[in-house]
Amino acid sequence: MEINHLLKKGVDMIKDREYGNPVLEATMVLEDLLNVDRIYIYTHGKEHVPENTVDKFLEAMEKRAKGYPIQYIIGNKEFMGLDFHVEEGVLIPRGDTEILVEYVLKYIDENYSNKPVNVLDLGVGSGAISLAIAYYNKRATVYGVDLHEIPLKVANINKKKFRLENVQFYQGNLFEGIKELGLEGEFNIIASNPPYISKEEIETLQVEVKNYEPIKALDGGEDGLDFYRKIIPESKGYLKNNGLLIFEIGYDQGEDVKCMMGNEGFKNIQILKDLQGLDRVVYGTME
Ligand SMILES: C[S@@+](CC[C@H](N)C(=O)[O-])C[C@H]1O[C@@H](n2cnc3c(N)ncnc32)[C@H](O)[C@@H]1O
Repeated sequence: MEINHLLKKGVDMIKDREYGNPVLEATMVLEDLLNVDRIYIYTHGKEHVPENTVDKFLEAMEKRAKGYPIQYIIGNKEFMGLDFHVEEGVLIPRGDTEILVEYVLKYIDENYSNKPVNVLDLGVGSGAISLAIAYYNKRATVYGVDLHEIPLKVANINKKKFRLENVQFYQGNLFEGIKELGLEGEFNIIASNPPYISKEEIETLQVEVKNYEPIKALDGGEDGLDFYRKIIPESKGYLKNNGLLIFEIGYDQGEDVKCMMGNEGFKNIQILKDLQGLDRVVYGTME
């Protein structure tokens, strides 16, 4: 079958998905399978696609038609200008998380120019936060923890892909993952994008997320705040004087998390909003 015909067939198969961009997605899958770029696809419409590639493409479109995320099909997602490998079992990095990473990078520049800085990332997933910080600031030494096997495997694949030496990943339940290292009081920055979706809200998520992304990366307990309740008090033992604690949060959790941090003695607590004007990040310092 010719590229043009195959693409059209693929687009027809996925055009009814509520969330998606059928032409772009079908093109991305074909690019990936043929190992060519987008311009090639658009300028070689008459080229014949081998039979086994046609089968793989149609199989992928069938999965996509059922809501299977495009990023798992093509095996990557761009985050902070870096191409992250992703696969089933790991959360697909979100554009909104760049707000946290950009703030941390700016904070390091402003507060630790020319100085080394220790960063802890709790719940690394694909390594999005840890690796973007380590990539864009080589003075940072980043420690990342995740409880689950697949995120740790994927984070290490990405670490290798970006050739980073200034980041290490550990397995464990939040701070337990680094307990053996004796790093109490050693972190300048603790960052986390923990699971924060409430029980009630999980049911309302789009199919792509609810049916295919790992529930362990999403489930923040009854009200979505379980991880903040655990991390905030414990972080105090791991932060240096003036250390920064920074979280990604759900759109309606800003005031709750701000209040929890205030109750634990954090100062200068601020909320950052996303492009839609919704609360997305909370940070504060421990003096
Ligand atoms: C919302 S995802 C964030 C992933 C990544 N940091 C990002 O921003 O794309 C939360 C991550 O926390 C991990 N996680 C869940 N419970 C954990 C725990 N008790 N200790 C450490 N990590 C945990 C999940 O496996 C998942 O990778």
